[in-house]
Amino acid sequence: MSGPGSSDGATDGTDGRDERDPDTAGTSLAAVLLVHPDSSREYVRAPGEELQTDLGVLTVPADVESGDLLETHLGEPFRARRLRGPDLFNHFERTGAPMMPRDIGLVVGHVGAQSGDRVLDAGTGTGVLAGYLGRLGARVTTYEQDADFAAVARGNMELAGVADRVDVRTGDVRDDLDALAGSDADADTESDPDSGSGFDLLTLDTADAAAVVERAPDLLVSGGYCAVYAPFVEDARAAEEAARAAGLAGVETLETIQRELNVDERGTRPSTAGVGHTGYLTFGRVE
Ligand SMILES: C[S@@+](CC[C@H](N)C(=O)[O-])C[C@H]1O[C@@H](n2cnc3c(N)ncnc32)[C@H](O)[C@@H]1O
Repeated sequence: MSGPGSSDGATDGTDGRDERDPDTAGTSLAAVLLVHPDSSREYVRAPGEELQTDLGVLTVPADVESGDLLETHLGEPFRARRLRGPDLFNHFERTGAPMMPRDIGLVVGHVGAQSGDRVLDAGTGTGVLAGYLGRLGARVTTYEQDADFAAVARGNMELAGVADRVDVRTGDVRDDLDALAGSDADADTESDPDSGSGFDLLTLDTADAAAVVERAPDLLVSGGYCAVYAPFVEDARAAEEAARAAGLAGVETLETIQRELNVDERGTRPSTAGVGHTGYLTFGRVE
């Protein structure tokens, strides 16, 4: 964009914008990440909102685009960027402990989450997993038993630009299993012949996940995957046992451990600090 409060600092002929932005081509952004290049400080604001910091004041233009260079009234630059998955993790308003991007990556890779998938998710919590899946193009029905958390998650889905694809329902998912099992997952079979009964994916991040896993064969289409994230090994064991009892195929539980490499002039070795373990992921698939 151009006009008051903005300037073009790019010299590569692309004016600094992200040209690979099919999701938002021709549409306005729900929110942008504002990054101060010198300090790496970053903030999320919607178009039209004001940012007030010790670096000055700026109003995000209504027609802001990813790549625009904006300036505060003190002349401090902020680059506007389209939000991406890790930005959701860093900037969503937090309630229930969100899944980390690395664990989400493992879930997405393992179950092959893709555009058009119908996903049943619980609990919503902060909504990081649901937001990632929505941004992949999946249609997500997600349950959160805490009404206040659910309200925050709906706001987070607006921020992520996926409120039209992620339906945050308030309630205990276990209470609705009969209605959800064999439901058409809000399919419109006339306009979408691929949409039949059931969900393609069941993603669970609750202490009582095993009770939902038991019903996976009723909830999922043939070939559909169930993925459970559990921070404690007892819950992972319960999920695996429930998956086996339900007759799911390919049942396995993986611990997710990640170590950062420290790279400096003396050499390269794993970091001695930081969290290695985040949780356990249990997978299974309906035959
Ligand atoms: C760890 S958080 C989920 C985080 C989420 N996966 C994310 O990435 O942001 C767990 C949430 O599940 C909710 N919850 C627990 N059991 C539930 C149930 N049976 N039905 C619906 N929500 C439930 C809790 O209130 C909590 O907010």
